[in-house]
Formats: sequence, C-alpha cells, structure tokens
Amino acid sequence: MRALGAWVLLGAVCAGSAQLQFSVTKSVVKTSQNDKVILPCIVTNLALNNTGVMFVKWKLEKKEFFSFEGRTGKSTTNKNFSSAELNSPEDLKFGNASLRLSNTQAVPGNYSCEVTESNREGETVIELLYRRVSWFTPVENGLIILFMVLAILFYWIQFAVTVSKFETTLLKISLIIAGVVITVFAVVGFSLLISDEFKPQNQIGLGLIVLPAVILVPSQYFLLQTVCENLSFAIGVIVLESLGYLIAVIGFGLCVTAGHPKTSAVVIAGLAIMALTALVGLIHAILTGSSKKNQSSRKPVEEPLNGRW
Ligand SMILES: *[C@@H]1O[C@H](CO)[C@@H](O)[C@H](O)[C@H]1NC(C)=O
Repeated sequence: MRALGAWVLLGAVCAGSAQLQFSVTKSVVKTSQNDKVILPCIVTNLALNNTGVMFVKWKLEKKEFFSFEGRTGKSTTNKNFSSAELNSPEDLKFGNASLRLSNTQAVPGNYSCEVTESNREGETVIELLYRRVSWFTPVENGLIILFMVLAILFYWIQFAVTVSKFETTLLKISLIIAGVVITVFAVVGFSLLISDEFKPQNQIGLGLIVLPAVILVPSQYFLLQTVCENLSFAIGVIVLESLGYLIAVIGFGLCVTAGHPKTSAVVIAGLAIMALTALVGLIHAILTGSSKKNQSSRKPVEEPLNGRW
C-alpha cells in the first residue's frame, strides 16, 4: 500500500514536468545535391535513458509515416518513406530521435517528431525546405556563352570577309558546313547548360559547347591560309587557338568530374582564348582583305587601257 501511495505521489509530483522538451530546430534545407536528408529531433530532458521504454513517431503534415518501438527495436515505415530510419538508434536513449531519409523521399513540408518515454511525451515540428542550386552561377553561364558566341561570330565574319578569295568552292562549302555544325552544337549546348537547378543535362550542354569547338581550329587555319602570305602567322594563331581549346577541354573535364564546378574559370579561360584568337584572325583578314582590294580594284582600270594599246 505504501508503495502504491509513493507511486501516486511521484506521479503527482512529476505531472508538472510530464512533457518532454526538445532542442528546437525550426527548419532544415535540402538541395538536389544532398544524398540523404536528416531531420533533427533532440529531446533534452529524458529521465530514464532506456530505449526499452521509448517510442518514436514521425509525421508529415499530421500523417504518421514512421514509428520506432524501443521495446522491440523495430521500426515501421509507410511505403512512400521506405528509406526512413533513425539516424543514430544507439543515441535514442540519450534523446536523439533524428530521422534519416533519402533525398527523393524527403518531400518538403512540416514534419513532426513525437517521442514517448514511459508516461511522458512531447512533440516538435521541423519544416523541411527545398532550395534550388544551379550548376554554374548566371555570371559563369553568361561568360561561357559570351565567349563561345564571340568565337563563332568572329569566325562567320572572317569567313564573309575572306569568301571572295577562295580558290575552290569545295573549301568554301566545307567551311560553311563547319560553321553551321559548330553553331548548331553551341546553340543546343547553351539551351541545355542553362537551368535554375543542376541537372545532368547541364553537363551534356557544356560538352556540346566545348568539345565540337575543335572544328574551329582547322577551319580557322584554312581561312587564314587563304589570305595569309606568311604562314608562320597562321600557324601561330592556330597554336594559340589549340591551346585555348585544350584548356577549355581540361576545364570541362574538371567541372564534370568534380561534382561542384569550382573549376569553371578554366573552361571560361579556354573559351576566352579561342574567342581572342578568332578576333585576331578576323582583324588580320580585314586588314589584308582591304589592302588586297585596293590592289585588285586598280586592275580593271588598267586592263581596258592595256586592251586598247
Ligand atoms: C509549415 O508550417 C509553417 C508554420 O505553421 C507554415 O508557415 C508553412 O507554410 C508550413 N509549410 C508547409 C510546406 O506546409
């Protein structure tokens, strides 16, 4: 009888502190790059530190999807949350009822964690938020696209400036095809590269921008060689352009292999060198083109004279 009286008394004394208390985390943020998501739930005033008398329930918007019974050590999950498990079951008796979920199953929303220890219980709510993370920043995307557009644009202008001087139409057609191919790849690449959120397509897009740019190297060479008296200039430009291409490809490889594209500067530098060499080629074509035009425009004036004499 005395024992029962003590129990009743104890219960009355404890009634004031019957609630379990939590260290409050208002929200956690996940991104598409997380593999697992951990929802924290830490009880701060456990008294018994005995998993056997504990029970944990996790709910999403009031619907239970996970429970763990300390007595049996078994957890039960809803099939939409099959990946759910206690993050650290051995620490449950110290109050850690945090839950681990796969990223795909961890839908954003308000999760509540309900913990029971013997006759005490409590609940805390954690909001899971989702933040979009893109592969490159808009500035990085902008620079990649800018330099590639410039390289292609300079190529086309140089082609237009040089076009009257081709000896064979075959060369002209080949250079047009090369220009069209590189332009199409780049445009498709741009459209795949840009997105609010990282997707594998971004990597394919960058590949379509960078890898086919190799076409510019021989095309540029034929363009230069058509107008250029001194071949060492043409070769110098081509060597520099090849170097730019190589740097861009190395940068592409680094961006793809390192999950985060901290190495975007390498790609950008490579494409900038390619744009620069395309500009050098264009300026050269304009300069030699205009000096040749001056010479050839005098000819028709001389010819009728020759003919008359
Ligand atoms: C979660 O709860 C907070 C506070 O009640 C509310 O502002 C928020 O919109 C809820 N989030 C979702 C996804 O329902």
